[in-house]
Amino acid sequence: MNNKGGAGKTSTITNLAMSFAQAGRRVLLIDGDQQANSTEVLANGKKYHAQYGHTICDLYTNPRFSISDAIIPAVSGDEAVGNLFIIPSDPSFERVMENCLTRHHREKILFRHLQPVMDRFSYIFIDCSPGLNLSTTNAAYTSDHVLIPVDGGSFSLTGLEVVLDYLDEIRETRFTRFSVFRNEYNGAKKKMNAYLHEQLANNARTRDHYLNTRIRADENISQAQVACVPLWYYNRGALVLNDYRALMRELETLFSAGEA
Ligand SMILES: Nc1ncnc2c1ncn2[C@@H]1O[C@H](COP(=O)(O)OP(=O)(O)OP(=O)(O)O)[C@@H](O)[C@H]1O
Ligand SMILES: [Mg+2]
Repeated sequence: MNNKGGAGKTSTITNLAMSFAQAGRRVLLIDGDQQANSTEVLANGKKYHAQYGHTICDLYTNPRFSISDAIIPAVSGDEAVGNLFIIPSDPSFERVMENCLTRHHREKILFRHLQPVMDRFSYIFIDCSPGLNLSTTNAAYTSDHVLIPVDGGSFSLTGLEVVLDYLDEIRETRFTRFSVFRNEYNGAKKKMNAYLHEQLANNARTRDHYLNTRIRADENISQAQVACVPLWYYNRGALVLNDYRALMRELETLFSAGEA
């Protein structure tokens, strides 16, 4: 999550999910964003996925929908990506969410659908849209842990604050199960890096949640997205893949220490 658009939510979660899958974890990635960017990358460019099969829209329109029907293997081209499954999104999800706005318990829609399949996956990731819409609310209600990317500008700090306040509101407590990390890190931008580090490391709210792993700036990320394939399939020599693996290891250490 980050309330700022373009902070790196989709790039991080698609590549992190790949890292976990390659490490032998069974992973489900739910595309909770009507922009359907994760779907584009992990479903061979099929952004308008409602044309091809079930999507997250079905979860939000039909309380009796069987979630298993919307879970499909992630692919690179025609090749299935082992251990990685997705629930695709579709641009029509925006309208679907609007139609849910008068439903009772609408913040629990995803949580309720997920119950029967929770045990089938080691990890379930949700890619959020930039806005605090109903899908983000459901992610905030459901998640054990929230990952917040901060890119190279100061606006994502504002987006981070907004998300933290929102999490507190939805969870009705001071929500502490989150991690903040730097994305699109460029070591040459010394002043900006020092500023962001100071903000994240000294802020009482974030200092204990600030990850060591930084995801470097790497052109391969956007190139793979243009090609609509996961980065590992696009260029398995891309250095940033090491960062996603490091992020995976840091998170697994956190989780095994009891920080869900
Ligand atoms: N580490 C990185 N290095 C280089 N480019 C990056 C990096 N992370 C993200 N980008 C690029 O920045 C742009 C925004 O990234 P991304 O789509 O992941 O952000 P987002 O937070 O999901 O955006 P939105 O809020 O629209 O969902 C994309 O073009 C992506 O390729
Ligand atoms: Mg995105």
